[in-house]
Amino acid sequence: MSGTSTRRVRLKVNGKKVEGEVEPRRHLGDFLRHELGLTGTHLGCEHGVCGACTVLLDGMPVRSCLMFAVQADGAEVTTVEGLAKPDGTLHPLQAEFRANHALQCGFCTPGMLTTLAAFLEEEPNADETAIREAISGNLCRCTGYEAIVEAALAAAKTMRETVRGGR
Ligand code: FES
Ligand code: FES
Repeated sequence: MSGTSTRRVRLKVNGKKVEGEVEPRRHLGDFLRHELGLTGTHLGCEHGVCGACTVLLDGMPVRSCLMFAVQADGAEVTTVEGLAKPDGTLHPLQAEFRANHALQCGFCTPGMLTTLAAFLEEEPNADETAIREAISGNLCRCTGYEAIVEAALAAAKTMRETVRGGR
């Protein structure tokens, strides 16, 4: 067998340019966690079922366990660490998850937040049914989902008001 070959990847993660040498088989989730130290992205099933590893790739939610890091070359990735503003102001979803006790162990939370952040950007008027549908691919073993849905509805309201207020 030949030795390990690596590929150079260049991408933007949470607004910062990053570069790294990766094995072609390294998945994006491992690259984010192990090469970049962004351990907010959680890896659960590692075969596309639980949604815990969801990050945004050019604004679209993707499962970072199902994508090779080399496939993200040239793309813009947002992880849960990139949802808050640089001054530390929480994303409305983060604030409402906290206010509504929408997490217990927190394992599913990064994937829930990234999934919902992208969804509410597209569907700011989403109702409860649409929100439940949006997170149907994200598994939570603790909360029973009620508080997550409440938090998402409250965050959607805040996001709509922010847009209307022009801030
Ligand atoms: S770890 Fe990627 S979907 Fe479960
Ligand atoms: S809060 Fe524990 S899995 Fe969702």
